[in-house]
Amino acid sequence: MNVIVTGGAGFIGSHVARLLVNKYPDSRIIVVDALTYAGNPANLDDVRRKPNFRFVKADICDFEAILALMREEKVDGVIHLAAETHVDRSIRDPFVFARTNVMGTLSLLEAARRYWGETGGFTAPDGGRRLFYHISTDEVYGALDLTCPEGVVPEFAPAGAHPAYGKDFFTEDLKYSPHSPYSASKASSDHFVRSYHDTYGMPTLVTNCSNNYGPYQFPEKLIPLVINNIRTRREIPVYGRGENVRDWLHVEDHARAVDLVFHRGEPGSTYNIGGFNEWKNIDIIRLIIKVADRLLGRKEGEDLGLVTFVRDRAGHDLRYAIDSSKIRRELGWTPEYSFEEGIEQTVRWYLTNTAWLDAVTSGEYLKYYDSMYGV
Ligand code: NAD
Ligand code: TYD
Repeated sequence: MNVIVTGGAGFIGSHVARLLVNKYPDSRIIVVDALTYAGNPANLDDVRRKPNFRFVKADICDFEAILALMREEKVDGVIHLAAETHVDRSIRDPFVFARTNVMGTLSLLEAARRYWGETGGFTAPDGGRRLFYHISTDEVYGALDLTCPEGVVPEFAPAGAHPAYGKDFFTEDLKYSPHSPYSASKASSDHFVRSYHDTYGMPTLVTNCSNNYGPYQFPEKLIPLVINNIRTRREIPVYGRGENVRDWLHVEDHARAVDLVFHRGEPGSTYNIGGFNEWKNIDIIRLIIKVADRLLGRKEGEDLGLVTFVRDRAGHDLRYAIDSSKIRRELGWTPEYSFEEGIEQTVRWYLTNTAWLDAVTSGEYLKYYDSMYGV
């Protein structure tokens, strides 16, 4: 199968592309990425020379360029991860979120509808399946409270899962209630994708995943930012009182779920993806400080003084918690990383790959594409 992975130079997209390139040598994986500030081709260094891999620098909003690429590569599958993704940026500059996340998704959907319409419809000429798979976020569901005494414990929640704060969870049938410009733009794109299934019969899939952590995440997001600030002994900004709860999943577990859904998911469906792993921000920050201080050979707790409480994010969602029972029950997915292993591996990765971090924080990485791809 020839598959376009949009946003493949970003954090999650690079893990998805790496997994697919290595696991399916007979498939062709074409990464399409505009290389915004969040895209870094160095994230794909280990697969760059594989014969089944191609990198194309293009903007998903450029309908003609995407359509031409689909025709050239005879594309049967799209895994769509390209997006503007940082909530704080969406508060400062919402327009670019509507452009990329909403119009960009629509442009991709239209290109796929046009190209597949020209070449036999929603089944590939060889009888194989065609699929438009959209990667979304749990943030579209809105926010939960810290305490909710009533509620049904999800079927697959492991006994003794790290403190669940309320007994309510995001399930696939929950009504969307986004609060930030970021989540509003993702919600809108999800609706467009479903509308293509319901209106044109396009085989589409949507997954909504909780917060990811792991290697290659841009250090504006909480976990790599905290690790980098410990490394360089700079203040760690904690929004509000650090009471907000996020549900954390290792990015490689997300990538494995994407592979599974892409190959076995029921077209027209939605699956929630998450690890039943809820943490208050302040607790996860303290844990990272503990692990980092040990790995750096510093005294335990030496860097707790870096924690600095700052003004809260506007409209800051209090709690996210995903019920991922459906994908576990129907597709047999389960995360492979325990949180202890995952956070240790992640802290170690950033403390070891300091050249990657320094290139990203200095802006050097923005020159990488030209030097490596000879443009
Ligand atoms: P990221 O910000 O690390 O990467 C986004 C990538 O998209 C970058 O490589 C960027 O260059 C590219 N891009 C941006 N605008 C583009 C455009 N107009 N055309 C082509 N490429 C463009 O993002 P991420 O954290 O890897 O998230 C990937 C997807 O997963 C997003 O759709 C996001 O909403 C979703 N998601 C992320 C998380 C998370 O915790 N990071 C959780 C759930 C869902
Ligand atoms: P983030 O990584 O931006 O992901 P999201 O907002 O999409 O969940 O933030 C995770 C949590 O950490 C969120 O509650 C905001 C908080 N946060 C801070 O307290 N300080 C920071 O510097 C950042 C970036 C985030």
